[in-house]
Amino acid sequence: MCGIVGYVGHQEAAPILLDGLERLEYRGYDSAGIAVCGDGVLRLCKKKGRVAALRELTHDGGDLPGTLGIGHTRWATHGEPNDVNAHPHMSQSGKFAVVHNGIIENFITLKEELQQKGYVFQSETDTEVVAQLLDYYYSDCGDFFEAMNRLLHAVDGAYALGIICADYPDRLVAARKDAPLLLGFGDGENFIASDVTALIRHTRDIAYMDDGELAILSRSGIRVYDRQLRPVEKKHHHVDWEVDAAEKGGYAHFMLKEIMEQPAAIRKATAARIQGGRVVLQDLTMTPEQIRAMGRIYIVACGSSYHVGMVGKYNLERMLRRSVEVCLASEFRYADPIVGEGDLVIVISQSGETLDTMAALREAKKRGARILSIVNVVGSSIARESDDVLYTWAGPEIAVATTKAYSTQMAVLNLLGLYFGEVMGTVDYETYTAMVRDILALPEKLEQVLAQADRIREMAKDFAGRDDVFFIGRNLDYALSMEGSLKLKEISYIHSEAYASGELKHGTISLIEEGTPVIALSTYGPLFDKAMSNVVEVQARGANVLALTTETHRDAMAARTPRVLTVPDVEPMLLPQLGVAPLQLLAYYIALERGCDIDKPRNLAKSVTVE
Ligand code: F6R
Repeated sequence: MCGIVGYVGHQEAAPILLDGLERLEYRGYDSAGIAVCGDGVLRLCKKKGRVAALRELTHDGGDLPGTLGIGHTRWATHGEPNDVNAHPHMSQSGKFAVVHNGIIENFITLKEELQQKGYVFQSETDTEVVAQLLDYYYSDCGDFFEAMNRLLHAVDGAYALGIICADYPDRLVAARKDAPLLLGFGDGENFIASDVTALIRHTRDIAYMDDGELAILSRSGIRVYDRQLRPVEKKHHHVDWEVDAAEKGGYAHFMLKEIMEQPAAIRKATAARIQGGRVVLQDLTMTPEQIRAMGRIYIVACGSSYHVGMVGKYNLERMLRRSVEVCLASEFRYADPIVGEGDLVIVISQSGETLDTMAALREAKKRGARILSIVNVVGSSIARESDDVLYTWAGPEIAVATTKAYSTQMAVLNLLGLYFGEVMGTVDYETYTAMVRDILALPEKLEQVLAQADRIREMAKDFAGRDDVFFIGRNLDYALSMEGSLKLKEISYIHSEAYASGELKHGTISLIEEGTPVIALSTYGPLFDKAMSNVVEVQARGANVLALTTETHRDAMAARTPRVLTVPDVEPMLLPQLGVAPLQLLAYYIALERGCDIDKPRNLAKSVTVE
């Protein structure tokens, strides 16, 4: 949700900012802008639309000379996406330029006060208040850092801020509260960014800012202060992601690249955690006593991460013989949840920054629950506020629609189930060994599934012109259908619904008519016959069925419909690990057929840091 980048150093800032913004564009892409300080003057250029338009407008940054600058790519919250509401925002005097990710909650009051003092606002954004208020304090005290200190005491809400001042041509100031921001340490140059992907071409030496911190960057170093302006010693982290991990590497889209990376990603997430046929979670600090004494178990997440939780509910309940409640984070936090001391809340998040999930985590923590998070982005806010973190090690996920993060979250949750199950003595030996064996075989089996890409592309042509699609399934196939349906709607803009097959007859079946596409998920062997009856049921109403089943059931299904995709047979709990790939490819090729902007679907952003 909005990407920020900032630079101070010896090189021209604008090309570095534009490059960084291109890498952050997945966070928001309504508009983009940069401000650069050169010869004591702030020059600004911003534009509705993509970073490419900004690049063209600024002649690859050549129109904005200077070695200090900030940049922003926006996902609109306050004020429609247009040139004026785009960031950076400049103060009335032209002295300050500000980029911001988050929401200034008291901006209306502050704006009215400033208007009474004669400030005239150009935009409808909450961010412009920051620029004008800073200007006001600076005109009073004449010191950038004192003005900054006053500003941070005056504003409420969430922010990651990057600020430059024409009177301080060698200083970049950054502040963070409830929105991600990290510092990059270079040689004679330093950086800020919302995400490491913007920095890995320049430095791998980074530090994560914490809430309430203020950072002052110059060419020679970075100083960080806490709320009371006491110096803070930051822990440095080394980023070991490859540069090409954040590039398309010959694929037409990041989404396709990330779909194809899933076998390797699952191998990375699981192989090191299985030793001698047993699951070993060295990164877990929970003791066997704590695991055995565990009270209620919740899984809390949003979107696709919530769908992983749906799969996890079936699997954990099977392995632990305990009830597991899966909650949407945005509902959990306001539901007065029955959670407390001794309970475990498993929080799932790719970005580790989703505000709803973060708020749910804090609510559970406040009530005394233990937090175990499954997160992809190392050092993210959710990871840092959890008692335990199991990283998914999927590498950077750039496409807005998640694929490899979903798969690795599921892989890690399965490992957790096995680990807990062994400690609690609730998972039987046969299931445990079959699971471990098949988890290790998943990458190879997934390669076989992905090899069906061309067939799926052909099938996608039949569905690309439709307005409504239904995904149906039972048990794990139902959990998987939710993800298949979300993938399709978010990138192709086709209306789609996921339905538990058994529920169809209670209302939804009235929507099935001649030609309605139904994706019937029937991988789950124990319920194959029931799944087949549902296929017959919808076909009798004219549905055009595409079925996904296992190789064992291919022929039986092929007798009912010519469109059958298969996954190899595995331990049933692992079927969604294979079944998700054809659904991702189907969504991808349908969206491609419809000419959609696959990596950056309309109205969406990768990391949702607003409520
Ligand atoms: C869908 C998608 C979203 C995210 C959701 C949670 O493809 O990516 O539904 O899963 O916004 O994001 P994280 O996992 O970062 O908390």
